[in-house]
Amino acid sequence: MNKELIIESAKEYIKDVFKNNSGGHDKEHTMRVFNTALTIAKDYPECDLFIVSMAALLHDVDDHKLFDNPNNENARKFLNEEKVPEEIVEQVCEVINQISFSKNKDKKPTSLEAMIVQDADRLDAMGAIGVARAFAYGGQECRPLESSIKHFYEKLLLLKDKMNTETAKKIAEERHAFLISFLTEYNKETQQ
Ligand code: ADP
Ligand code: NI
Repeated sequence: MNKELIIESAKEYIKDVFKNNSGGHDKEHTMRVFNTALTIAKDYPECDLFIVSMAALLHDVDDHKLFDNPNNENARKFLNEEKVPEEIVEQVCEVINQISFSKNKDKKPTSLEAMIVQDADRLDAMGAIGVARAFAYGGQECRPLESSIKHFYEKLLLLKDKMNTETAKKIAEERHAFLISFLTEYNKETQQ
């Protein structure tokens, strides 16, 4: 199994999977999650980098908002075609299933790899990119701006305290501060 080649092939695969999507779930989001996960992983040399990489790259390929796929169908198909051993396929799917907010409510991930990828995915809903994605989502759903602002209070401002790793907690502090300063300015400009 050539891990480097499989990672490159997964990057090509996500371009294809997300070709009709923009805004929240797109290949750019996936690549940011992948890169952030690798940055966090540098502080945890005991983690399995291949599992982190594959779970990050494939974490949204069966997302219920985009596809109606039970049992990680797209992820499994990709990994099987790349001849990844079954045991590793199971590990990657377990990580993917553990990081989903909706599937797990507030259950903490059990493996270091899942903690890292979940942190990376959540960090992408914070900071300037989080602001951009929240309004992109609202726009896509034809909702008023205020609906995205509500999402800040219901979800985005809570993420800082949900980080698993110390490394992500530090990045989250900065991104949270940006969300607060955005909201302060937004409220100032809209409440006249
Ligand atoms: P992911 O699967 O990447 O963890 P989600 O599917 O929950 O994220 O959401 C994708 C993006 O859309 C995130 O940036 C999130 O903040 C944003 N989003 C989700 N629901 C809403 C909403 N009701 N209003 C505004 N933005 C939303
Ligand atoms: Ni995601």
